Amino acid sequence: MHQNVDLVIDGSKISGRRGETVLDAALRYGICIPHLCHMPTLTDIGACRLCIVDHIKNGRSKVTTSCTLLVQEGMVIDANSERVRGLRRNIAELLVTQAPNSRAIQDIALRCGVTEPRYEFRSDDCVLCGRCVRACKEHYQAHAIGFVGRGQERHVEYPFREKPESCIMCRACVTLCPMSITPCDGPMKSGEGYFCGKCASLTQAPQYEAGDCTRCDLGEGFDCSGHL
Ligand code: SF4
Ligand code: SF4
Ligand code: FES
Repeated sequence: MHQNVDLVIDGSKISGRRGETVLDAALRYGICIPHLCHMPTLTDIGACRLCIVDHIKNGRSKVTTSCTLLVQEGMVIDANSERVRGLRRNIAELLVTQAPNSRAIQDIALRCGVTEPRYEFRSDDCVLCGRCVRACKEHYQAHAIGFVGRGQERHVEYPFREKPESCIMCRACVTLCPMSITPCDGPMKSGEGYFCGKCASLTQAPQYEAGDCTRCDLGEGFDCSGHL
């Protein structure tokens, strides 16, 4: 039996379940808050920062990630303020610049209003969302991969660069990765600065509007709710 708390998100009164996050509560009510690193079956770590919202309290507002913010009685959340939309657009722009060859990430960027990234594409093969590391640890208790390095050198790897015995070759790390679920082979090489538009991404990704969560498919096969 859930204990409920009342809160307001984007002007809608909703009933949250004590212990759940603002992001989960919003998604249950069909309120779209863009997100990438969140998966319902994994511990949230606030890695991608796409899910930021304004938490309004005592006349002040604080920007925070909704996937790490637990619902509280009387809470007021604005997931669609001008400030949040601007910050989220910048975050999405950096993500798609870092890793443009993922349709899921292109679609997220488009939804957040990024049509012409201001920076050159880097074409990294990882956005450091940590889905793979968490799945390996939490679904299979394998602890076979982890983050190494700092700054632009940071990436996911086996310890000592060798596959450990604990890796059971389940491929969960691959199947949950936004880079491998929806690879994009378009001409978005490092140095280019536009979406090629050859796939259907441009038509599949209407811009984010408050309360319009439709459990959209981002790219092909990447369900934003995290269920594959
Ligand atoms: S294939 Fe190996 S590294 Fe990947 S999730 Fe499974 S156990 Fe972990
Ligand atoms: S390899 Fe993929 S799943 Fe793992 S952190 Fe990078 S983008 Fe995320
Ligand atoms: S979904 Fe909340 S930080 Fe990534």
